[in-house]
Parts: sequence; C-alpha cells; structure tokens
Amino acid sequence: MIPLTTPDPRLSAVRALDRVIPGKGDGQSLREVLRDFPLQGSDGGLMRDICFGVCRHLRPLNHWLNQQLAKPLKPSAQPVRLALLAGLYELWFSDRPAHAIVNAYPQLCRKMKAPWAAGLSNAVLRKASKLTIEEALEGAPANIQLSLPDWLHKCWVQDWPDQAEAIAQANLYSPPFTLRVNRQQQQRPDAIATLGEGVRPGELSPWSLYVSPARPVSQLPGFDQGALSVQDEAAQLPAELLQAPPRGRILDACAAPGGKTGQLWEKFPHADLVALELDPRRLTRVEENLARLGATATLLQGDASQPDQWWDGTPFDAILLDAPCSATGILRRQPDAKWHRKASDIPALVDLQARMLDALWPLLQPGGMLVYATCSVLRDENDRQISAFLQRQPQARDVTPRPEQATMVDAGWQLFPQQDGSDGFYLACLRKNL
Ligand SMILES: C[S@@+](CC[C@H](N)C(=O)[O-])C[C@H]1O[C@@H](n2cnc3c(N)ncnc32)[C@H](O)[C@@H]1O
Repeated sequence: MIPLTTPDPRLSAVRALDRVIPGKGDGQSLREVLRDFPLQGSDGGLMRDICFGVCRHLRPLNHWLNQQLAKPLKPSAQPVRLALLAGLYELWFSDRPAHAIVNAYPQLCRKMKAPWAAGLSNAVLRKASKLTIEEALEGAPANIQLSLPDWLHKCWVQDWPDQAEAIAQANLYSPPFTLRVNRQQQQRPDAIATLGEGVRPGELSPWSLYVSPARPVSQLPGFDQGALSVQDEAAQLPAELLQAPPRGRILDACAAPGGKTGQLWEKFPHADLVALELDPRRLTRVEENLARLGATATLLQGDASQPDQWWDGTPFDAILLDAPCSATGILRRQPDAKWHRKASDIPALVDLQARMLDALWPLLQPGGMLVYATCSVLRDENDRQISAFLQRQPQARDVTPRPEQATMVDAGWQLFPQQDGSDGFYLACLRKNL
C-alpha cells in the first residue's frame, strides 16, 4: 500500500495514475482523480505533466518496458510499473535533466515500500537514458507508436485513411489554451488588449482567443465575473451557428457542465433558454457556470431521448444537441479516455444519439434549427449518423456552413485536431422545412 499523505509530486502522480490506468478495475477519469490532488505551483505542474504524459504515451512506454523485463511484473506491482512508465515518460518527453530523473525513481520505489524495485528502476532508466524514443520504438507497429488501442487505430484508418496518422499524432500533444470572450461584457479586441502578450484571435469562432502559454484562470482579468470562459474553438461553433429569434425558445438538450448553455445566453440574452441534463449532479455544474456569467436559464433534469417525461408541449425555435459521444476528438485533453473506451461502447453511443435526434426533432418548430454536435472523430457518430437521420426525416435539411477547405463528408462539418488548432469536433446544422 502506498502511504496516503506525501508532498512528493512523482509519488502523487503514481498514486493518481494507479486510480486512472485500468488495472485492478476499469479506472477512473484522470480529470476527476486530479481533483483529489490539490498540489500547487511547480510540484503540481510536474505531477500533472507526468499524469497526462503517461496517459498520452502509455502504449509505447509499456511496449518498451515489457521488452526489458526478464519476467512480467505481477498485477499487484502495478504502482511499480507506473513509476517506471513515469520515469520513461520524463526521460523521453520532458526537458528535465536525465541524471535527476534516473536518481529520482529508485528513491521513489523505496518510498512506495517496494525496495525490491529500486535496482530494476535504476537499470531500466539508465538504459533508457541512452536512447531516444524513436530508437526505442524502432520497428514497433503503428498502433503502438501512435499510442492507440487497436480498435481505435482500426476505426481511424477505416474512416480517414489519409488522415489517421496525423489525427493520432496531434493527440500526442497538449491542446492549446482557448478562451471565449463574453460579448455581453466586452469586445474581442478589448479582451486581447487586456490580456496582453501571447494572445491571438481564433479564425473560426468570432469570440475565440488563443493564449500561450496557458494561464491559471485566477490570472485571467474578469474571469470570476464571467468576462471570459475556457472553451475550445470548435466547441464554440455549435452555439455560434445556432439560429433562433432573439426572444425565441431554445433547448440545450445535453447541457452539463454548461459551457454551451452559457454561450447561448451570451448570444441570446433575451431568449427563453432551457437547459436539460440527465445527471442531477452535473446539473449543479451548469448552475454554477451560469452563476459566474450572471446568466439565467430554466434547468431541467431529464432524458433527452424521452421528452414525454419533461417536455411541457411548447415547441422550441432552436435545439442544441451536444450529444454524449466517444470523446475521440478530445484525446489531447482527456488522454485517459483512450484506455477507458472500448470498441463495444461505440454502437451503444450511436444508438443513443440516434434516439435523441429522433425524440427531439418533433419538439422543433417548422422553420427551426437543430444543431447536432459531438467531440468525436468517428464517422458512425458524425456524418454517417446525420446522413441516416436525413434519410429518416425528409423534413430535415443539412444547412451546415462548411468552409471550402474542410474535409468532405456526407453531411455536416468534421473538424480535426491536426487542423486549425481546435479539437476534433463534428457539427451539423439541420433546418426543419416549413
Ligand atoms: C458532451 S457532454 C455536454 C457538454 C455541454 N454541452 C457543454 O458544452 O458544457 C454530454 C452531456 O450529456 C449528458 N447526457 C448523457 N445522456 C443523456 C440523456 N439521455 N439525456 C440528457 N443528457 C444526457 C451527459 O451527462 C453529459 O453531461
């Protein structure tokens, strides 16, 4: 058992990873686990870097480590394995001095009450310190080099034969830090001037800003008062492209944590905005996010695929369906999702998305718009899902504004993490015929 209280950031990283990387159980989400490790400053930065880095590069690190072991590590030695992977990650992907890394991990093994692993750690890391990651992975298959589970690599190669490698490569890097300016409080050029150096406007969303290097939100002027929100640029597009009368009735059908609900309020402050969410705990996050912006909406707990349980019968002028999905477009932000999702999850998600689309469509006024969005890069959840919907609903027209340079898909607009700086994302604007 690893001791519970320690300020050592490497030990904290191993403890966090032990709860995230599937081993004894299915593994928890990294984002949730990190909330239990409130390390600050450079220690917090080191710990988070190791956690994200090991999740991103898990497969190649494991591959090389396994080749070094005379006999496999027992499942009960998972913390030792994670410590070795953390050391390899630091050696190959960080700019911290190799000698400091090689010395740190044998000590860590002793702190973890695994003194037997100190020699192993020393030998493995010493050997690794003489190699680059490219040398270590020479001859390894693409799915290992790209750190993907077999099923996802296969899906991407089938869906995007020319882009699969670039999509996977893009997911091995940290995402940019992107903000949305609250148009109710300021114009984008004013926000750029206030934020100072390292800020540039995004080209897809008129309210987006890229800030480099990333800053803690506590250092963003006006953040607590709602002047800015953290939101990927592609994720800003669905609410930006949703058309509705200024005082119309708008449904945000899968609302939590409320990023897009707040944006809808900023865009349509006089609308009758309804935010629906299945998970009651997550609905409180919508409430908190709206409170920071000074925004209001009617919050409903309910199942978007079963409107008879919550709909009052008054039609909506516009509906945003930001559907639950595989999250394969945001693996830069949630690299642990690669190891938590299974191939068998996808048909269930595709079925749920289709049921939501079919259930919400009758709630839309003739002439109204439904925007369907996912943070997925899988065609079954995206253009194939919408093509099938358009077949089922002759009253629906695809009116998505797609830039000329966008990758051609059968319906809607697919964005990729290797283009434009945004996450991998999909959206389709569907107009209901009058
Ligand atoms: C992609 S997230 C939405 C993100 C949100 N729109 C935002 O911008 O902050 C999908 C949400 O759908 C919720 N959800 C899942 N199944 C649902 C259902 N059947 N009905 C309503 N919400 C559902 C999940 O709990 C999750 O909060």
